[in-house]
Amino acid sequence: MGVIGRYLVQATVPLTVLLGAWILSEHGSGDVGTREALRGTARIAFVPFVLTFIARPLNELHPTRVSRWLFANRGTLGVCFGLCMTSHFGLLLWLHYLSAPDIPEAVTVADYVIGGPGLFLVFVMLVTSAKRVHAAIDPRWWGGIHRFGLYLVWFIFLGCLVDSYGRKSPPYPASDYLPFIAVLIAAMGVRLGAALFGPNRKWARRAANEGTRGVTNG
Ligand code: HEM
Repeated sequence: MGVIGRYLVQATVPLTVLLGAWILSEHGSGDVGTREALRGTARIAFVPFVLTFIARPLNELHPTRVSRWLFANRGTLGVCFGLCMTSHFGLLLWLHYLSAPDIPEAVTVADYVIGGPGLFLVFVMLVTSAKRVHAAIDPRWWGGIHRFGLYLVWFIFLGCLVDSYGRKSPPYPASDYLPFIAVLIAAMGVRLGAALFGPNRKWARRAANEGTRGVTNG
């Protein structure tokens, strides 16, 4: 991890905590303020998540200084995302504490069934990003866990934002949702683009291999 990466990681926790504290001081530390803080921390986490999600495919499709930096620092960005989500988790605990013994009104079944495993996977990804743990895990397993986790989190972000946008009453402005949804779809476009047209596209390699085999065999 380079110097910038180290500063980024070190700044993530205080920045997210400060943002959460500022939102709570504006809206109160009750149900309303905690939900606002949950919305804010999710949006902060969104930034390092999307950068991690597009780092490799963007660098494959269109290498520039920026994409090379993203690619080289994608692990660091992923750690920043995981740390931001820790504050989402902390606020969730607080929300449950506020409404105990009942389940908080703001939490849906989908939050538990899909968001719960998603959050768990984020922590697994965070822990397995530590150098020693990473080195101890079979690279295929490590890659599989992290790839699956990235796609699952992408899906959860999209689901949360689309669902909340349609459900909130009174509604929040569209600008709180649509730009984030557009960025998510564009990010998936970058990944698909790299899978179809990038230099490491798997289907092309497979086709080339089959072609070669066909030639030698026949
Ligand atoms: C990787 C996992 C997760 C992601 C990516 C995620 C993402 C988000 C996003 C984008 C929002 C903002 C929605 C809005 O603006 O209305 C949000 C808010 C929220 N999330 Fe999560 N979340 C995750 C896990 C969870 C879990 C496990 C729970 C509860 C069991 C949860 C409960 C909430 C609640 C209560 C809010 C506030 C909703 C409101 O304002 O009414 N989240 N989350």
